Amino acid sequence: MVMDKDIIVLAVESSCDETSVAVIKNGIEILSNVVSSQIESHKRFGGVVPEVASRHHVENVTMVFEEALLKANIDWKDIDAITVTEGPGLIGSLLIGINAAKALAFAHDIPLVGVHHIAGHIYANQLVEPLQFPLLALVVSGGHTELVYMEDHYQFKVIGETLDDAVGEAYDKVARTLKLPYPGGPHIDRLAALGEDTYKLPRVWLDKDSYDFSFSGLKSAVINTVHNAKQRGEEIIPENLAASFQASVVEVLVEKTMRAAKEFHVKQIIVAGGVSANKGLRHALENAVKAQGQFKLTIPPLSLCTDNAAMIGAAGTQAYLRGHRSNMEMNGQSGMELKSI
Ligand code: KG4
Ligand code: ZN
Repeated sequence: MVMDKDIIVLAVESSCDETSVAVIKNGIEILSNVVSSQIESHKRFGGVVPEVASRHHVENVTMVFEEALLKANIDWKDIDAITVTEGPGLIGSLLIGINAAKALAFAHDIPLVGVHHIAGHIYANQLVEPLQFPLLALVVSGGHTELVYMEDHYQFKVIGETLDDAVGEAYDKVARTLKLPYPGGPHIDRLAALGEDTYKLPRVWLDKDSYDFSFSGLKSAVINTVHNAKQRGEEIIPENLAASFQASVVEVLVEKTMRAAKEFHVKQIIVAGGVSANKGLRHALENAVKAQGQFKLTIPPLSLCTDNAAMIGAAGTQAYLRGHRSNMEMNGQSGMELKSI
């Protein structure tokens, strides 16, 4: 897409437990990206409590906006669009960001652009380097596990998805079984690096040609391993169990990603969503891509893997340039579908 002037967007993300506002230039440059995390408040409950999340968003949103605008040092008249996560996510949380975005768009007469949260995770990669099409996105978050084929900007074709648990959800449940704090993914990742793949856990491939995933059987296998050991009075070695769980997840994710990348003749593989912060997954993908010698691999830095508004700004800029506009009727969509524009 050709741009004859700089495009500045103000972006808002509030779909789960992070309140975030960013200012993005031309869809690629971060002028500011302020993230206020509520993790500490949700930890004691072992997961995100929707009512608590909404309340924190209300408390934080004004301050986060002010800080993002101050850091970017821009004027309202310089902003071409306000882009906000429309869904999927917790409805009460989404609505706080959406209503703030709507109010500001109305007050300053700026176009409003609703963005899909997963489009945001995918476009986090564009803040690292340009996207090269066709590409394959491995989307691994707390709510999604998908392989998305893209022939061009904002053309999403889901070629595989989880039939049950999302991979992040499986990480968090396994972590809970091992009595690790919420969110469990990073703790399992840390323990896995200290252990070895000694427990015999399943690899769920489904059909030979399928790009779909299933993680609930693996999760149950871990839970059963822990319960059986307890009944027999045996000790579990958490590092080894974490390493065994992670080995199973990573092997399946990497194998299916590489197979799809070859079949669809993509130029680039990108990774998106909170679980892309996983060190085991990052290393395994890097090695597989190196061995293959055919694809470009992009994985965002850790700060852009988990929820943030910069990624919504990157996706929102593309949506804006492609003519997508929302209006004051925009509502949160907790189960929004990823659609091409
Ligand atoms: O994308 P995200 O921030 O929120 C959603 O859109 O769902 O992803 C959150 C998920 C959580 O399940 C968290 O445990 C997981 O990402 N996660 C990780 C790691 N860091 C975050 N999972 C595995 N290893 C990590 N290092
Ligand atoms: Zn997310």
